[in-house]
Amino acid sequence: MSAIKCIGILTSGGDAPGMNAAVRAVTRTAIYNGMTVKGIYRGYKGLITGEIEEFKTQNVSNIIQRGGTILKTARCMEFKTPEGRQQAYENLRKENIDALVTIGGDGTLSGARIFAQEFNVPVVGLPGTIDNDLFGTDVTIGYDTALNTIMECVDKIRDTASSHERLFFIEVMGRDAGFLALNGALASGAEAAIIPEISMEKDQLSEMIEQGLRKSKNSSIVLVAESEVTGGAIGVAERVKKEYPHFDVRVTILGHLQRGGSPSAQDRIMATRMGAAAIDALMEDQRNVMIGIQSEQIVYVPFSKAIRNEKPINRDLLNVLRTTSI
Ligand code: F6P
Repeated sequence: MSAIKCIGILTSGGDAPGMNAAVRAVTRTAIYNGMTVKGIYRGYKGLITGEIEEFKTQNVSNIIQRGGTILKTARCMEFKTPEGRQQAYENLRKENIDALVTIGGDGTLSGARIFAQEFNVPVVGLPGTIDNDLFGTDVTIGYDTALNTIMECVDKIRDTASSHERLFFIEVMGRDAGFLALNGALASGAEAAIIPEISMEKDQLSEMIEQGLRKSKNSSIVLVAESEVTGGAIGVAERVKKEYPHFDVRVTILGHLQRGGSPSAQDRIMATRMGAAAIDALMEDQRNVMIGIQSEQIVYVPFSKAIRNEKPINRDLLNVLRTTSI
């Protein structure tokens, strides 16, 4: 029998489709194993202000198919201060919460790591972000749904791009990572992807144009990852207008629509497996780890590794993209 009697669960940072499926799986697996579950609203903010409610199995009914997060989310600056974390710890004690499950991206796991170290609280993290930028897991919750959303949007833009014979730069999210742009480009048959990982090393735009972006086609679609390095789709398009004025250029920024929508089957399954694994991990006395999936197997990744290491992008995919878009 685990020493953990009561767990708190929260979602934090940018929301991602599949977070609800994870909340459901964590709640029900914990209750199944005799634990009490407390839902903490608005991420770390709710831990500080004490917005906490006991969750029964019914609280997570009918949510597996819903995007967003029923627990709400926030980016909490106060939790970055020692005073904020102290207040959070006091609320944890007041609510008799023995361990935490936190669902979110890099910032969420970084907060979890400091909190766990400072107050010796067992914390298990679930990777919830559309960016797929956490090291130690093949995929993150929300990534697959966002990719599918991007693919559907690009399919639609292609209709008008080809009718008008235009060059479209479509900006996708990813923070500092190019997973959504590169795999979104492969899935939608785009001509190229401009991603921060490569843009740091070379000028992808001139290379792309010199290699003959429009050898056999009159319209082209290029996915551009949001990035300070390239200036995103607007930055790239401005350069093209100046340096290659013969192109008829348009820009679309997909923005927050990439974060919404009903989660895909893959995200629901992944979130459910990871949510159940979070409770298994706590019962095995694991702490300060992120649940990951590698080659279909659940793995425990220490926070220090998941946050600190840069997840490498598969560069071979750029060649596949180039070859298949001639
Ligand atoms: O981390 C998820 C993400 O959607 C990033 O891709 C993006 O850079 C950021 O969040 C946007 O954050 P916000 O919703 O706070 O503007």
